[in-house]
Amino acid sequence: MFRIGVLVSGSGTNLQHIIDAIQEKRLNASIEAVVSDREAYALERAKKAGIRAVLIDRKEYKKDLSDKILQELGTELDLIVLAGFLSILKGKILDIYKNKIINIHPSLIPSFCGDGMYGLKVHQAAIDYGVKVSGCTVHIVDNGTDTGPIIMQKTVPVYAEDTAEDLQKRIHEQEYTALEETIKLFTENKITIQGRKVYIK
Ligand code: GRF
Repeated sequence: MFRIGVLVSGSGTNLQHIIDAIQEKRLNASIEAVVSDREAYALERAKKAGIRAVLIDRKEYKKDLSDKILQELGTELDLIVLAGFLSILKGKILDIYKNKIINIHPSLIPSFCGDGMYGLKVHQAAIDYGVKVSGCTVHIVDNGTDTGPIIMQKTVPVYAEDTAEDLQKRIHEQEYTALEETIKLFTENKITIQGRKVYIK
């Protein structure tokens, strides 16, 4: 079985979509653990689905957060999915899981990403700039912020009348599909990464 760990910080609608996709057999995988770096509704979603749910408080662990997460997840997972996880991973976990950690970001990287770009700020920045398309990006996690190789992007239109909430909602829908499709590609071993390029079979 393809074994996944999911890291979260928020409400966990992306997590829920993965749980549903597994239950509905669209994904041939199992979630071994859900780890949150703060109190979050996502942990409740995990518990309801019978998945091990662990809180590793970022305020308590600070510099050791990544090592503590690695300790919880172990080294045998096939994939770690960051589904709305707000801390930055550092150190050993990035080496041990090289090219096996993915993140979903709610913009078309390299626009509107990087340090401090999360939540509604991302969408407000896109609207303020006046872009006509935005979207979401699934990428490999490396030691930068939103800098790893891009696996998949989905686009949505941006309207001048949009509020940040409107755009967030439109993009959220695409995130679910992008994450599911990406995880499926991993479970089928269809992804090869060479430098910044991601080849999909
Ligand atoms: C999503 O917008 C994701 O792109 C970002 O954090 C949000 C998480 O939403 N990284 P949810 O917790 O999955 O509902």
